[in-house]
Amino acid sequence: MAEPRNRYSIVSLVFHWGLALLVLCQVLLITAKEATDGPISREFLQIHKALGLTVLVLTLARIGWRMANPALPMPPGTPDWQKFAAKATHVLFYVLLIGIPMFGWAAASAGGRDIPWFGLFNWPLLPVEQSRDMAGTLMGLHEAGVKVLYVLLALHVLAALKHHFVDRDNVLHRMIPLIRRRP
Ligand code: HEM
Ligand code: HEM
Repeated sequence: MAEPRNRYSIVSLVFHWGLALLVLCQVLLITAKEATDGPISREFLQIHKALGLTVLVLTLARIGWRMANPALPMPPGTPDWQKFAAKATHVLFYVLLIGIPMFGWAAASAGGRDIPWFGLFNWPLLPVEQSRDMAGTLMGLHEAGVKVLYVLLALHVLAALKHHFVDRDNVLHRMIPLIRRRP
């Protein structure tokens, strides 16, 4: 019988850590935008928009990849509620990595200004009502999505640390292969 898969492919690892890094950059770009004024501040926001739309496209590609390459099984003996919690968290991550940039894109569209993508082309505006009110509502949803993402990320990291330090299994190792594999 074939051995069960016990490692993620390099593509899965690059998607996971690449997107995690891009999300971190998104937060840093907004922090930089808020800490500055004038043209440089507007530039940080432009990069935030372009990179955020890149997150959207990469997440769609990642979901396609994931459908062809299912997740690894949980370690034997994992209680059903933990399997469910992990699955629910992961699905919600995908929903947020689509929803957050979509609301950002919609809010920027309601604002009516061009959304350049790193100076190469202008991203099309979504067909939403162009008004301050609409932009404000959509931006509220963008921010709410980010808050849910923070909560989820805290649970996700705590779960990963519990696997590593309490259960002492290989779940963290398979997402960070630099960590030594346990026998
Ligand atoms: C914004 C940051 C992050 C996002 C959006 C994210 C998202 C995800 C998603 C969607 C999965 C499921 C992959 C799949 O099977 O489809 C996953 C798995 C995993 N993540 Fe993250 N993650 C983030 C950060 C982190 C961090 C900081 C850690 C480590 C401390 C981590 C550790 C893991 C581990 C160990 C798994 C594998 C779980 C398993 O094999 O069943 N993640 N992550
Ligand atoms: C995964 C992708 C994204 C993440 C994680 C993200 C994250 C954030 C965060 C943390 C804020 C600050 C919210 C606050 O003040 O409470 C913000 C604001 C904002 N985001 Fe995003 N964002 C993403 C994608 C996008 C996209 C695709 C666009 C537009 C095309 C966009 C446009 C904006 C705008 C216009 C603001 C308001 C900035 C201001 O004037 O203060 N975001 N985003």
